[in-house]
Amino acid sequence: MNVFEKTNNCIMSTYKRFNVAFEKGSGVYLFDSNGNRYLDFLAGIAVNVLGHSHPVVIKAIEEQSKKLLHVSNLYYIEEQAELACYLTKISCADKVFFCNSGAEANEAAIKLARLYKKDNRYKIVSMKDSFHGRTMATLSATGQTKYHSGFEPMLDGFSYAEFNNFDDFKSRVDDKTCAVIVEFVQGEGGINVADRVYIEKVYDYCKSKDILFIADEVQTGIGRTGSFFSYEQFGIEPDIITLSKALGGGIPIGAMLAKDEVAQYFTFGTHGSTFGGNPFASYVSYNVIKYINESGLLDRVNELGDYFFERLSDIADKNGLSAQGIGLILGLKMNNGKEADSLIKKLLEKRVLVGKAGDSTVRFEPPLIVEKEHIDEFLSVLESVI
Ligand SMILES: Cc1ncc(COP(=O)(O)O)c(C=O)c1O
Repeated sequence: MNVFEKTNNCIMSTYKRFNVAFEKGSGVYLFDSNGNRYLDFLAGIAVNVLGHSHPVVIKAIEEQSKKLLHVSNLYYIEEQAELACYLTKISCADKVFFCNSGAEANEAAIKLARLYKKDNRYKIVSMKDSFHGRTMATLSATGQTKYHSGFEPMLDGFSYAEFNNFDDFKSRVDDKTCAVIVEFVQGEGGINVADRVYIEKVYDYCKSKDILFIADEVQTGIGRTGSFFSYEQFGIEPDIITLSKALGGGIPIGAMLAKDEVAQYFTFGTHGSTFGGNPFASYVSYNVIKYINESGLLDRVNELGDYFFERLSDIADKNGLSAQGIGLILGLKMNNGKEADSLIKKLLEKRVLVGKAGDSTVRFEPPLIVEKEHIDEFLSVLESVI
């Protein structure tokens, strides 16, 4: 049996897969089993931040795998502590809880928000078209009914405000509201960028009512938008930040960061994870994020992001479409879903990998190590098929 048959026979059908399987990767390229080369402008949905087979990732994997993979959070773990101290040094947060995925990071954030002050406030406002994960709490926080379908009832206490509409947000807050959860760029929802003034207003309102501001940076964090955390570009300091995807450069890891006054409510026994922050994932993550922060990569993300966006906007204008996004999380909004699907298929035929966001946006999230010539190569293929 080949990989397609084995998958269809033995794996549950939760994913709609393209008919291709990759054998290896190098930089911004992936190679299938026939040796065909693909330009990767999706990076495993914003995970492979340093591309494929990056020396920093390989070295960290080699070093730590020879020492220690896993012990348990019953013991002190040097690599985990080092990563936590680094994350708190570079962010506005004081403490970290480690887990293994974006959904787990948001699940932890939701639980912490409900514990905050223990004053029986439990409601959380999220945004329409948001995406926060597939566990029952994060699904309940996700403002897209298509993901809820079949799993109702959702957990009590979640409501969905129109993105970038402050009055709508305000109307959904009451004296039982403990938190708001926001993505600065809605990734799964269509590459929708938050308005800075809107974010500031929501944040100030939250401060005035002692409501926690949770920044879901699972997709936008770790340099994707041009700053290490996206909140840095929005003039606020979230109470809670969630991270995953790029955090491990390809190794699964998630983290929920919080300020001390909030983090103190996670006490002994309130939450936990067997694998969360194990020595292996922590060491790889530490090396990945240190490299991102200290190698000047973020300056390049800004520079190349601007260049990419400008050229993408030209193509969009010529075709009556619109370009959206910031940094290296960009999208091309097509006229409808069929057009988006067709463009993705045509790009795959030309051996270029991209993704879909929302109903009708084609999204581009190359590894952050992308070079100008890769962007040019991508845009010339895009122009030829659009
Ligand atoms: C903003 C955001 N939050 C949470 C998640 C869920 O992450 P995971 O699939 O690792 O559970 C995603 C995944 O796409 C995401 O984009």
